[in-house]
Amino acid sequence: MDKRYKNPDNDSRGVWKAVDFTISLTGGQRGAQFAKTGESKNIYEITTPSGRKLMPADGRCWAASEDRYKELLAENRIWFGKTGNNVPAQKKFLTEVQSGIVSKTIWFRKEVGDNQEAKKEVKAVNASEIFATPKPERLIERILTLATDNNDIILDSFLGSGTTTAVAHKMNRKWIGIELGDHAYTHCLPRMKKVVDGLDEGGISKSQNWKGGGGFRFYNLAPSLLKKDDFGNWIIEPDYNADMLAAAMAKHEGYHYSPDEQLFWKQGQSTEQDFIFTTTQFVTLELLDKIHEQMQEGESLLICCKSFQAACENKYENINVKKIPVMLLGRCEFGKDDYSLNIISMPTDENEEPFVPAAQIIAEEKEAEDMRKQGKQSTLFD
Ligand SMILES: C[S@@+](CC[C@H](N)C(=O)[O-])C[C@H]1O[C@@H](n2cnc3c(N)ncnc32)[C@H](O)[C@@H]1O
Repeated sequence: MDKRYKNPDNDSRGVWKAVDFTISLTGGQRGAQFAKTGESKNIYEITTPSGRKLMPADGRCWAASEDRYKELLAENRIWFGKTGNNVPAQKKFLTEVQSGIVSKTIWFRKEVGDNQEAKKEVKAVNASEIFATPKPERLIERILTLATDNNDIILDSFLGSGTTTAVAHKMNRKWIGIELGDHAYTHCLPRMKKVVDGLDEGGISKSQNWKGGGGFRFYNLAPSLLKKDDFGNWIIEPDYNADMLAAAMAKHEGYHYSPDEQLFWKQGQSTEQDFIFTTTQFVTLELLDKIHEQMQEGESLLICCKSFQAACENKYENINVKKIPVMLLGRCEFGKDDYSLNIISMPTDENEEPFVPAAQIIAEEKEAEDMRKQGKQSTLFD
């Protein structure tokens, strides 16, 4: 390891060296601009922890703008010497200076923690049920520092007590956590709420200067939509009630689920004029005619049902009637090594604004208005 790299403040990101936090104010574009205007956004006053007020020396400016300096300071990347009285230097971590990634073979407990430390961290979230095999936040921080950058997406599909997502969140990464056990509710959810609310002061919160922020969505995985009956035929899982089924079918077919308050058959939309209606009823010609009468010029509809009268099949050009088990099974490929289920239709143009159905906007606005009237603020978990 390069001898110039040390760790005098025991930073959990590993060894670092102090580099000059000033740069020349005479050369390049910055120099030309300064010569013209006499101003530079890299010239501002810095106050050391000991209270000394400093300006860059003549012909020099700080190596970053004031906003960036504040970020670096918040991330504990500025070093004022052991006494806090020196001219600022920037901490360059060995793991970050090379384009390749430098990882040490041995990771010492004093740098990345141990199981005892990890237990203390999870105890702060749930003291009554201590998770058996947690990892210390400092260990995951080291791994994420080595392997990822800001805004990368971190996936932990065996989330356990939620260490990976807590660390990823505090390090400005995006994340997806998946957990099968009840600790999704007893550990992961409360832990992430504390992280977001800035109430988690443990783990790497101090070294990352974590004060809270951001948010997340918490999803429960629904039971499988299809199952085989005693005769080996595919049927809809009986645990699915009508609303769950409608929401699931909308999702599967690429529609936004947002039931219309007036028209029962408008349960979701893929575009302004294309709708989906899922029903467990037997769809008759009479029902089809009634729906068709209510449809406006240019509107189209996909009906997903368990069964329908044969005459419904091609009755209207703008209404497509399909049987649910058949349409879902058409998307599944059983007995293959490589499953490529095309479940959700992705937008083709990435610059296109996502389509939000009017019913959803109205419902959200109404909810926000109700909250306002009650003097309540919505939380991330509503
Ligand atoms: C060793 S623990 C992970 C510990 C975690 N790294 C931590 O620091 O807290 C493994 C976790 O994977 C979960 N698990 C096992 N099979 C799973 C599956 N198929 N889907 C989601 N989670 C699963 C277990 O419930 C257990 O909580």
